[in-house]
Amino acid sequence: MSTNLNRRQLIGAGLAGGLALTSTATLPSLADESSETDLFTLGVASGDPLPDSVVLWTRLCRSPLAPDGLGGMAARRYPVRWEVAEDDAFRRVVRRGSTVAAPSWAHSVHVEVDGLRPGRDYWFRFRAGRQLSPVGHTRTAPGYDADPAALAFAFTSCQNYPAGYFTALRHMAQDDLDVVLHLGDYIYEGGGGGALGRAHAPASETFGLADYRVRHSQYKTDPDLQALHAAHAMISVPDDHEVENNWAGDISQVDTEPDQDPAVFRQRRAAAFKAMYENMPYRRAQLPDGPDMRLYRRVRYGRLLDFSMIDTRQYRDDQLEDCVGDCEARRDPGRTMLGEAQERWLVDGLADPGAARWKVVGNQGISFEADRVAGPGVAYSQDNWGGYAGARQSLYDQVHEAGVENLVVVTGDAHRNASAELKLDFADQSSPTIGTEFLGTSVSSGGDGGDQSALTRTWLAENPHIKFANDQRGYQRVRVSRETLEVDYRVLEYVTRPGSPVSTRETMVVESGRPGIVAGGRV
Ligand SMILES: [Fe+2]
Repeated sequence: MSTNLNRRQLIGAGLAGGLALTSTATLPSLADESSETDLFTLGVASGDPLPDSVVLWTRLCRSPLAPDGLGGMAARRYPVRWEVAEDDAFRRVVRRGSTVAAPSWAHSVHVEVDGLRPGRDYWFRFRAGRQLSPVGHTRTAPGYDADPAALAFAFTSCQNYPAGYFTALRHMAQDDLDVVLHLGDYIYEGGGGGALGRAHAPASETFGLADYRVRHSQYKTDPDLQALHAAHAMISVPDDHEVENNWAGDISQVDTEPDQDPAVFRQRRAAAFKAMYENMPYRRAQLPDGPDMRLYRRVRYGRLLDFSMIDTRQYRDDQLEDCVGDCEARRDPGRTMLGEAQERWLVDGLADPGAARWKVVGNQGISFEADRVAGPGVAYSQDNWGGYAGARQSLYDQVHEAGVENLVVVTGDAHRNASAELKLDFADQSSPTIGTEFLGTSVSSGGDGGDQSALTRTWLAENPHIKFANDQRGYQRVRVSRETLEVDYRVLEYVTRPGSPVSTRETMVVESGRPGIVAGGRV
């Protein structure tokens, strides 16, 4: 049986009815010589919905912080049963099967269930030996040609475990959503203990496979994160901290570590990606091949909405380390953010006449121009699209020339909220608006935050295309209809203590067929 801890987590997620502790008859019992120690300490998850399919995830793990990264499991293969039902009591089981959790993949399980019906709610669970996992809820995508009147999703990023509680994720779990996007910094690689009794394990920066496995395991023990995964399917892309701060292609950030050698850094990236795959609900299409992982992909929600998830780390050129203020190299169109193949894939998908009405791009660092210096001088972060302004201009030009409508970029990384109109030429505010970007704050990175920091006020003063900005923690909830797309900036009062209430700081509105923001902030 699952532990009381897991039961409480499910109650907290509003899923207590789904636990069905007595309903084990539908699963055959399996011989298990193991002890009764909980095998499902990391919870369950689902991801990357299709109209007929979703991937289900769990990982057998008795001891999440075991230093070898193998979770206290024996070095053997464990049979795992799974089932999917139309109800939370598992009276109408529609799919079931068995698989194997192998030590070579840290006893993780990824089941790509097919034969499901579009746009439907399902509940799922696993069984290993005599133990049942917690119950997860998921929802398939609408049929490709369906035209739903409304959809809802949320997006989030930057959950730093020592920096604060993941209360935002608990609130996300309680919303009625079709799916959630995670835009990166799902883990942080650094050491550090913080002051909240949530010190990182291992205690130092992660380098090898065992380190990354332990770090992912630790994050997955968080009850708010478990509640989120048990409540909604997730579509995720990593940013830098899943590997190392500010990495770019085969290049580590500048420091004194052995991964200054790109060959060493590629080994580190391979370890980080392997642990990430093991601990996330990715499909087989995302199975890493050494240091390479195909993360950019499109997930369609009928004719209303599609998500183009992009990868701005693996294929980018290195950051300009010596570009202080502004510099010509920043505007060099020869420097790439996406790489040639991904950029073509992105533009082709956005420009496809059969694309959905709303085209949402799941992005990492901000693409809108954000001068961070008050007065006539300028300075830009070199790690986001601002440091690759030539590549950004090339992308915006292609989007504009193709006549792409209803482009909405959602972004993480910056640990603040902001909404901006994307100008074809940011230096000319009368130039066409080619889309809208919604930057979402962090779950916990940066600590409690406040309404507006000095930098945020400078952003607003220096960049008229930014219509709203705020520095609280929280998450972003999006309602989509044929007429409008509305983003609720959900904010918390604090994250250095558990249990903050949540409220909506601002709602920003975009209308179909009319680029730019029509309501919210300083519109
Ligand atoms: Fe971050």
